[in-house]
Amino acid sequence: MARVDRSIFILFLSGVAATIIVFALSGSWEAAFACGIASLFGVALLFDAQERGAATALARRPEPTTRGPSLEEIDTVLQALPNPCFVVHRGRIERCNGPALALLGRHIAGQDVRLALRHPAAIDLLAGANVATAPARIEIAGLGTAEQSWELDVQPIQEGRLLVLLFDQSGRQATERMRVDFVANASHELRTPLAGILGFIETLRDPVAGADQATRERFLTIMDGEARRMQRLVDDLMSLSRIEAEKYRPPNQPVALPPLIEEVVAVFRQGQNKRGQDVVVEMEVDMPPVRGDRAQLSQLLHNLISNALKYGAPNTPVTVRAYKLNQGMAEVSVTDQGDGITPEHLPRLTERFYRVDSSRSRAMGGTGLGLAIVKHIVQRHGGILHLDSTVGVGTTVRVELPLFSAPAGEDGPAAS
Ligand SMILES: Nc1ncnc2c1ncn2[C@@H]1O[C@H](COP(=O)(O)OP(=O)(O)OP(=O)(O)O)[C@@H](O)[C@H]1O
Ligand SMILES: [Mg+2]
Repeated sequence: MARVDRSIFILFLSGVAATIIVFALSGSWEAAFACGIASLFGVALLFDAQERGAATALARRPEPTTRGPSLEEIDTVLQALPNPCFVVHRGRIERCNGPALALLGRHIAGQDVRLALRHPAAIDLLAGANVATAPARIEIAGLGTAEQSWELDVQPIQEGRLLVLLFDQSGRQATERMRVDFVANASHELRTPLAGILGFIETLRDPVAGADQATRERFLTIMDGEARRMQRLVDDLMSLSRIEAEKYRPPNQPVALPPLIEEVVAVFRQGQNKRGQDVVVEMEVDMPPVRGDRAQLSQLLHNLISNALKYGAPNTPVTVRAYKLNQGMAEVSVTDQGDGITPEHLPRLTERFYRVDSSRSRAMGGTGLGLAIVKHIVQRHGGILHLDSTVGVGTTVRVELPLFSAPAGEDGPAAS
């Protein structure tokens, strides 16, 4: 409004000034009046042109835009990310971070994405017919080592650039595979004795075979053995799941190892198996207590001594040792003299149902869960498990456990 008022005032002044000048020069009021009107029109046209010019200039001025992150800013974020990630522009790797270089090789910077990845599905998404125009995600294998599998996330960012992030899925898939294997193994272990029991029931139902007292007794004894085997398996599975459920709750009792070892060894010595007499104990009687769960440590000792007695050669000693180590740890070890274990089996012995010789272990009534239970107990205690074996000499299993006086750890190192 103020702008319009000012324009009218200027027009008025221009008209008056032109009229006075013409009157002064010519002395004619008519000429002065006509000239005043003409000058008013002229100035009005001039104003109009000026206003239009200003409006056009305003229209031409670029709209203020919201600026996206620059390539340098994107690069700063890439370098801070722990996952392999890179930016693809026109089919080339424009920027990439350290983990991406470590995974795909130092040559990928600036390289054609087809050569850098050499993976058909990924290439299709990044530089092929189906180049991503919206966020996309695919699972790919074959990057890094053969066992690794990755999730590749693509995010279109500014000016046709694609941000690519890689997430290692190997751990998740290994866990899933373990779960599937575990269910299959557990079912198989239960099915074998169950099939035996069902077979014997059928035979006992037979009027002739079932009527014979001696046959009946023999079959019932086998059925009893198979049923007990199933019971042991279910007990071991339940015990394993209980230990796993408490995995993140470290034990907090002071447990004196010498009396506990004496207690467990006494069970073997008093048992029906004569091998129990071969157990020898060597320990520091006044060693400080460990931080532990007494029932679980008893189970650990039981499993290790039972293995040494089963797999050690007959009439050879099984030695149980316990002593204090430096740095707030104690060690318990069980040594046998036997065939030993070949090195390729050692890393797998703590897997559920893994046996070096399945038929021998089954014949001895083993479930194949003993060392898996030991491993989980050691993990829960924040300890370390060592398996050392020499073929033809024997095996020593050592377990390091934190002393009660040592500060309580969170989750201990993995047993192996
Ligand atoms: N001291 C040892 N000497 C030789 N081999 C051993 C020894 N301890 C374990 N093994 C091998 O490791 C396998 C796994 O042992 P683990 O204790 O887990 O199961 P198991 O003894 O077969 O059955 P379970 O302990 O449930 O009765 C055994 O089958 C055996 O082959
Ligand atoms: Mg065992």
